[in-house]
Order: sequence, then structure tokens, then C-alpha cells
Amino acid sequence: MSAVSHQEYDYDIVKICVVLSIILGLVGTFFGTFIASQLAWPALNFDNPYLSFGRFRPMHTNTVIFAFGGFMLYATAFYIVQRTCHVRIWSSKLAWAAIWLWLIGLVCALLTFPLGITQGKEYHEAEWWIDIILAVSWVLYSLNFIMTIKNRRTSHIYVALWFFLGMMFMVSYIFVFNGMALPVDMTFSYSAYAGVHDAMVQWWWGHNAVGFFLTAGFLGVMYYFVPKHVGRPIYSYRLSVVHFWSIMYLYVWVGAHHLQYTAIPDWTQSLGAGMSIALIFPSWGGMLNGMMTMSGSWHKLRTDPVMRFMIVALAFYGMSTFEGPLMAIKSVNALSHYTDWTVGHVHSGALGWNAMIAIAALYHMITYIWRPMYSVKLINVHFWIHTVGAVLYITAMWASGVLQGLMWRAFDDYGNLVYTFADSVAAMHPFYAMRTIGGALVTIGFGIMLYNLVKTLQAAKAEEGQQTAVASA
Ligand code: HEM
Ligand code: HEM
Repeated sequence: MSAVSHQEYDYDIVKICVVLSIILGLVGTFFGTFIASQLAWPALNFDNPYLSFGRFRPMHTNTVIFAFGGFMLYATAFYIVQRTCHVRIWSSKLAWAAIWLWLIGLVCALLTFPLGITQGKEYHEAEWWIDIILAVSWVLYSLNFIMTIKNRRTSHIYVALWFFLGMMFMVSYIFVFNGMALPVDMTFSYSAYAGVHDAMVQWWWGHNAVGFFLTAGFLGVMYYFVPKHVGRPIYSYRLSVVHFWSIMYLYVWVGAHHLQYTAIPDWTQSLGAGMSIALIFPSWGGMLNGMMTMSGSWHKLRTDPVMRFMIVALAFYGMSTFEGPLMAIKSVNALSHYTDWTVGHVHSGALGWNAMIAIAALYHMITYIWRPMYSVKLINVHFWIHTVGAVLYITAMWASGVLQGLMWRAFDDYGNLVYTFADSVAAMHPFYAMRTIGGALVTIGFGIMLYNLVKTLQAAKAEEGQQTAVASA
């Protein structure tokens, strides 16, 4: 069947998500820098419960993951599914409903967190009624995606779409499973699970928010935008299919690596560790597939900052998926758990891999749905400032994490602890200050991106005005 013309695609739903993702990326990294400053300078808690670190932390994590990352995933899914299936989105109305519900759900979450209204489950903090709004949005988004694929005018389903489908399916059911609760009122609910079961279900969700939301979805983004941007086919289609199925199979088992040395059965902890170690193979296969797709186009790196974002994102994907299996080994986890090493690992994935591949995809889409970016120089400045910021953040946390772990387990000849906990807190100060500087750089980078977007939109509007004037003359 013949392809539809680009005018027939619904890009309005993509445009709104692109704009929201960039604005919320700026807000979320600003929150991150704020809580990083609070850890470095506790006076910034202002003795005010509404501004305290404990209440602001989920504001940061939810904004960066579900608002910045979420709207990027909405934008890219709507964009990719139309372009690879050569068909308009199944229902624009449903897409708008999904977008509005996602935004309303997130705004409600961000309004309730400072009041201390949460379920107390990490990455699932929002209360039960907000969960319902978000889940309905997610189901509408997934249904629209599936129906668009069903109506496709192409014979096969491109691998990027498989990754999105995997994410949609897994996130839907694990989110709902973990969110099961008995509501008391709008501000409080009891989890359906108790004790170790609650912990296991929570981390089954927790690591699959990482494995499917932050990994499978973002890999779908990588599999579409890397080949498209460099103008080469994916290095190995076969490898991408192996990558897909092994990621789908392995990720669901690894949640227990968050619960090493706790009250959950020992065999469960070992299973989580074993599956985590196995995960390095598909992860690196995918990383190499992305990198090899770029080979032959390396010369473009000199002039194309978007491609630089892509290659560094893949390098960080490789690094964080090497580090994760390492940290899952029980003896390594004995040192790393509860320390900033975990936070360093998180942000090498989040700032290095997730944010950089997202930023690359957003810049790429802006060019196609509006016009080329207002300033390529500013994209380049953004690239450097983000990279330096991320490296500062991650190295600070690695150093402080290992130092913390070693200080906590240092004993003298008589078996007494060498350092008090307060000594370790004091030793962290320079690293926390360094992280704040790194975070501020990343936040400024998002500010530059937003400025570049606004200027691009103004230029697009001016061009549209000129065309209308010429047409009516
Ligand atoms: C092969 C892949 C990976 C494995 C096996 C893995 C493994 C681990 C391990 C062992 C921990 C520490 C758990 C603890 O001691 O509490 C951890 C924490 C974490 N990882 Fe990974 N990781 C992987 C990739 C990634 C990637 C790509 C990201 C992307 C952002 C990521 C995000 C996180 C987060 C958010 C946490 C912290 C969870 C928390 O305590 O709140 N991981 N990971
Ligand atoms: C300006 C950039 C950023 C700064 C300064 C920043 C700062 C922070 C800080 C201070 C924490 C709390 C750490 C703790 O409790 O000890 C945190 C946690 C976290 N951040 Fe960020 N962050 C930034 C960007 C991001 C991005 C872009 C993402 C995701 C895409 C992200 C995901 C997370 C996650 C998942 C956690 C929880 C980690 C854990 O429980 O181990 N952050 N961040």
C-alpha cells in the first residue's frame, strides 16, 4: 500500500509533548539541583516542612522520570508509530485525552507531595486516585499506539515499536499491581501487601520502572532516532530482536537486587543477582548495535552536536549497565548499598543515558515537525555543558559513595568503629557541593535548550506568516 503524505500525520500531539517535555526537564533538573543544595547546605531546608528535602525529593524524581521522560516517550511514540506505519494516529482525540490526563495526574502529584501526601513507595509516591488518573492515561496512550500499528500500511513492525510495546505492556500491569491499595480517604491508603511481600512487589515495580520505562522505552527511541539521524540502517536487525526478547525476559527478575541482605529469602536475593549479571549481555549487545550503526558516519561528529548527544548517551548506557550488574553482586552490594554510589549509578543512567538520548530525540523531532533549530551553536554549548555537568555529578557521587562505604566499615584493632556516622556526613560535604555545581550546569543546559526552542518556534511562526502573505498577495 502507498505511504501517506507527511501532512496527513498528526504532529500537533507530538508538538505539545515536545514542548512539555523540555519545560518539565528544566523544572525537574531545577528541583534536582535544589535538593542537591539542601544536602550540601542543610540550612536550605528553611525549617519549613513544605520545602524540606524529604518532600522535595519525590518532586524531583517524579518530574524528571514521569514528566520530562514521560512526555518525551509520549512525543516519540506518537511520532515514530505514524512514520514507521505510514498511517495517521488511530485517534487524535484519544491522544489528547491521554496527554491531558498525564499532565493533570502529574500536577496533582506535584501539589500533594509538598503537603506530605504520599504512599511512601519510591517511584510510586502518588496517592491511589492520582494513580488511577495516570493509569487511565497510560492505557489510552497504549491503546492508541496498538490500534495505529493495527492500521499500518507497512508489512512489518519496526523494532523500535516492539520496544515501545514491551514498555507499555509491562509498565501497565506492574504499575497497577504495585499500586493496589485500600483507600481511606483522598490523602491516605493502605497498601494491599504487607512486610516482605510489600517490599518485593515494590521493587518488582521499582526496577521495572527502570527496566521498562527508563530502558525499554528509551531503547525504542534509540532504535528509531540513531539510524534515522545518521542516515544508515540499524547495524544488525537480528541483534535488535535478540536484544528485545532478552531484555523483556531478564528485567522482570532483577528487582530483588534492591533488597540484598534484607529479610527476603536468600535464594530470591541470589536469583536477583544472577539475573542482573546476565543482563549485561543484552544491554551491551544493544549498546554496540547502536554504536555500530553510527560507524561510517563518524566524520559527522565534528559538525553534528545531536549525534554527539547520541554517542555519549550510548557510552553511558554501556557504563551504567556494566556498573549495575557489578553492584548486584552481593559482596559489592554490601559496600555500595545505602551509599551515594547508588545515586552515582542512577545518574550515570539518568543524566548520561536517559537525558542525553531524550535530548537528541527532541532536537531531531523539532527539526522535522517545525523547522531546523534556531542555533546549532547553542546545541553544541548545551552538549558540552550537559556532559561536563553529568560527569561532575557522577564522579562526585562515586567518590563519596565509596568513601562512605569504607568509612562505615572501618574498624580499629579493638574492633571499634573508627568513624562516627557524623564523621562520614562531614566528609561528604565537598562532594555534595561538587554535585550541586554539576546539577546547576545540567539545569542551565535545559534552559539553553528551552531558549533555542522558543527562538525556533518564533522563526517558524515568522516563516508561516510570510508564506501566508505571499499566498494571499
Ligand atoms: C544491566 C542493567 C542494570 C542493572 C543490573 C542494575 C542494577 C542496579 C543495582 C544492583 C542497584 C542498587 C540497588 C541497591 O543497592 O539498592 C541499582 C540501583 C538503581 N539503578 Fe540500576 N542497574 C542497571 C541499569 C540501570 C539503568 C540503565 C538505569 C537508568 C537510569 C538504572 C537506574 C537505577 C536506579 C534509579 C536505581 C536506584 C533505585 C533506588 O534505590 O531508588 N539502572 N541498579
Ligand atoms: C540537574 C540534574 C540533577 C540533579 C542535580 C539531581 C539530584 C538528585 C539528588 C540530590 C537526589 C537525591 C539523592 C539522595 O537521596 O541521596 C536525586 C535522586 C534521584 N534522581 Fe536526580 N538529579 C538530576 C537529574 C536527574 C534526572 C535527569 C533523572 C532521571 C531521568 C534523575 C533521577 C533520579 C532518581 C531516579 C533518583 C533516586 C535515586 C535513588 O533513590 O537512589 N535525576 N537526584
